[in-house]
Amino acid sequence: SPALGRLAEARGLLFGFAIRAGRLLSDADYAAFVVRQADILVPENACKWESLHPQPDRYDFGRLDQVADFAAGHGLRLRGHNFCWHRALPDWVERITGPAAVRAVLEAHIATVAGRYAGRMHSWDVVNEPIQPTDGLPGGLRDTFWYRSLGPGYIDLAFAAARRADPKALLCINDYGLENDDGGGPARREAMLSLLRGMLARGVPVGGVGLQSHLRAGGADRFGPGLARFIGELAGLGLRVLITELDVDDSRLDGSDDEIDREVAGVYRRYLDLVLGTGAIEAVTSWGVWDNRHYTGATPPDGPPARRALVFGPEGEIKPASRAVAAAL
Ligand code: XIL
Repeated sequence: SPALGRLAEARGLLFGFAIRAGRLLSDADYAAFVVRQADILVPENACKWESLHPQPDRYDFGRLDQVADFAAGHGLRLRGHNFCWHRALPDWVERITGPAAVRAVLEAHIATVAGRYAGRMHSWDVVNEPIQPTDGLPGGLRDTFWYRSLGPGYIDLAFAAARRADPKALLCINDYGLENDDGGGPARREAMLSLLRGMLARGVPVGGVGLQSHLRAGGADRFGPGLARFIGELAGLGLRVLITELDVDDSRLDGSDDEIDREVAGVYRRYLDLVLGTGAIEAVTSWGVWDNRHYTGATPPDGPPARRALVFGPEGEIKPASRAVAAAL
């Protein structure tokens, strides 16, 4: 079987997966597969606020500590995802009122979590999904609890807190919908670039950008030269670029598994050839290890789940997408 991590390393890249912490710690086959294929892991949900900090005075670090030990024990890098997002926030956070109190809670959360794993995280998604031009806010920022409480400065605050607590990790902004050359893509790219230029001008310690890359099979994706140009512009700002949540939603495809697999593999190949062709990508993490009833950012919430969206088939079986990714790496 292709050990994708090794292929990636030979090209100066990292390859890995979003993992389910509970399964990694309890299923030896899953864990062994991950170790064989990956250079880098990101907990799919275990670093999110509601997982780590469910009550004001309670942090639950048990699972993430074990995942961090697992990664270190197997020489795998680890990404943290995430500190500031409009989802996975416990109610107690959203009930806080007043900028001083919100800021104190955000900074304390980041200090505690980033501080605990300092030196063990390759990177942190400090702010996740801050862009949403259709919300009508200045700069194309998303209308979130953090924005409403703290204004656009919440982003700078979060990065400063992360840097104070972890002097070494690559600090990233992560977002979706940046892939397409038409539709909402160009406006989202513009908003992202202007946010980043402003942050860099203000001396905010942002070092990387995650392109989530929840793609869709069936001709719905229109990534092309504009995406390569965008990645070049990010690199030109001195930023490192990561593909953070790669998957290919097949939920709207009809056909046999073979037909679906061929289509999905084609999207992986075209996408990776394009983005890796820029020479500016540092890591590729796929949003899940192997096929299951899968959430993808591109799956409509009321629709059927994706079935053959990931790089490997159920239980790690090699399928066309596995070979397409191996060939692209
Ligand atoms: C998703 C997880 O995959 C699901 O298990 C969870 O129920 C919701 O969150 N963008 C992100 C990820 O940044 O954190 C999301 O992960 C997928 C979309």
